[in-house]
Amino acid sequence: MKHLLSIDDLDPEQIEGLLDRAESFAEVSKRDIKKVPALRGRTVVTLFYEASTRTSSSFELAAKRLSADVVSVKASGSSVEKGESLKDTVETLSAYDPAAIVIRHPQAGAAQMLSQWVDAAVVNAGDGMHQHPSQALLDLFALRQRIGSAEGRKIWIVGDVLHSRVARSNIQAFSMMGAEVTVAGPPTLMPRGIEASGCEVRHSLDGIEEADVVYLLRMQNERMDESFVPSIREYARLFQVNSRRLGPRQLVMHPGPVNRGVEIGGDVIDSDRCLIADQVASGLAVRMAILFELLAHGGETNTTSEGPVPIGEPA
Ligand code: CP
Repeated sequence: MKHLLSIDDLDPEQIEGLLDRAESFAEVSKRDIKKVPALRGRTVVTLFYEASTRTSSSFELAAKRLSADVVSVKASGSSVEKGESLKDTVETLSAYDPAAIVIRHPQAGAAQMLSQWVDAAVVNAGDGMHQHPSQALLDLFALRQRIGSAEGRKIWIVGDVLHSRVARSNIQAFSMMGAEVTVAGPPTLMPRGIEASGCEVRHSLDGIEEADVVYLLRMQNERMDESFVPSIREYARLFQVNSRRLGPRQLVMHPGPVNRGVEIGGDVIDSDRCLIADQVASGLAVRMAILFELLAHGGETNTTSEGPVPIGEPA
């Protein structure tokens, strides 16, 4: 694996390998000294053309925990605001000889395009409505930590599927790892033909009691230039998941940021059934694993008959 652009770049064995590796890094994060020297002397650039809290901070911390030098650029406040193109921006940053560039961009395909311009490994941290592969991997990791394998689990993805790169990556990743995926939302927020990706489609929450995991999506207003639902109040009445809609064994996930009281009830966020904090913590371990696999481990499958390849002594 030279780049991580899409869940399509991975097979189930590689995903298992990355999750095993993330488990090693989660252990490292419990040590007093949380850094390992794996990427000492290497440079990681993070380049964000869209807002982010979780993805940008966790990739930056992941690279630092691996002892890389990190250059973090946000389009807002950079020379992008003076009209510099993506290509010229990347050429400028390439002067620092980065080993990896982590990019988030509003255009689908931006990360793939970048991968053709640079020698560095490219990680797609979200491109338009297309893909967010590291999110899907961290979600699998958070699930594995809580309930083990996704194999045979029923996972409902509820909300604005149409505008969601998380939904596209997660449908693929959950299905690849053996889960039965259902997507639910208003017809206006459902991409035409989504069932071809192997999921079932519903337009109400009827039957949600069958789900082991309910994965909620916020309404992506930043990608809408028209109204897709009659009103937020009406949407919340029909699709908000709160404690009254859930049985005792059902878990809830959300990639964040949440809109409390719209797609998710505050009572759910503050309950033990909610994995949101686990997902954020998983983001660090999984993004360390991604950078390690791309840069330190040459993209080979990372397990041996004795278990994961060692990741090194503290830095
Ligand atoms: N889930 C996610 O991508 O969050 P951020 O937009 O905060 O990075």
